[in-house]
Amino acid sequence: MAFTFFFRDRHTLEQLTSFLMPQIDSYAKIKVWDAGCAMGPEPYTFGIILCEAIGPEKYKKVSILATDIDETSNFKEIITQGVYPYSDLSRMPPNILEKYFHKIDDRENYQINDIIRNSLHFEQHDLLSLKPLDNGFNAIICKNVLLHFQPEERINVIKMFHSVLLKDGLLTTEQTQTLPEECSHLFEKVCSDANIYRKK
Ligand SMILES: C[S@@+](CC[C@H](N)C(=O)[O-])C[C@H]1O[C@@H](n2cnc3c(N)ncnc32)[C@H](O)[C@@H]1O
Repeated sequence: MAFTFFFRDRHTLEQLTSFLMPQIDSYAKIKVWDAGCAMGPEPYTFGIILCEAIGPEKYKKVSILATDIDETSNFKEIITQGVYPYSDLSRMPPNILEKYFHKIDDRENYQINDIIRNSLHFEQHDLLSLKPLDNGFNAIICKNVLLHFQPEERINVIKMFHSVLLKDGLLTTEQTQTLPEECSHLFEKVCSDANIYRKK
């Protein structure tokens, strides 16, 4: 079930941004993977929060790979267009809505701005294939996905994330997930009130 919304778990995404900050000037490209991104609100929210923190000039070096198993096969079109009805955007702070979206028709549909839209690339991908589409990520966001997996599957997916993160790369999961014991040697928790882990 692809339940999601803009600015969901804002605190965790803001914390991830602050832990990512030291990497921003050290790397020519900042690569983020949002695994299990649904129709786009989460990776777009993270893009907005990061852009707010580093400014549009530095944000040009950010690329977000957004993936999902996407059983309906329509996420690519939605995410590529970056168009959402106002009802999907109503939880967003009004100043952010005004700054990052523009109304495109009389039916209350809004499109996200090109800076954020062009930073995102969607691919259909099954995490349980354990075949990552890329590597060298500064950060991976995988929220409200791992809970649907069996314990063994969860461990294998987390080990896959570890293998494609850069040294010091960051993994973020949902609040309700703790890292399985079998993966505790791979990551250290860096944040007391959000599930953000740094690769060991
Ligand atoms: C509850 S939504 C979470 C969306 C977003 N991460 C959030 O927290 O708002 C779970 C998403 O995981 C995706 N998903 C489930 N199994 C998956 C798999 N094996 N590989 C990739 N994505 C999967 C679903 O299609 C759905 O979009």
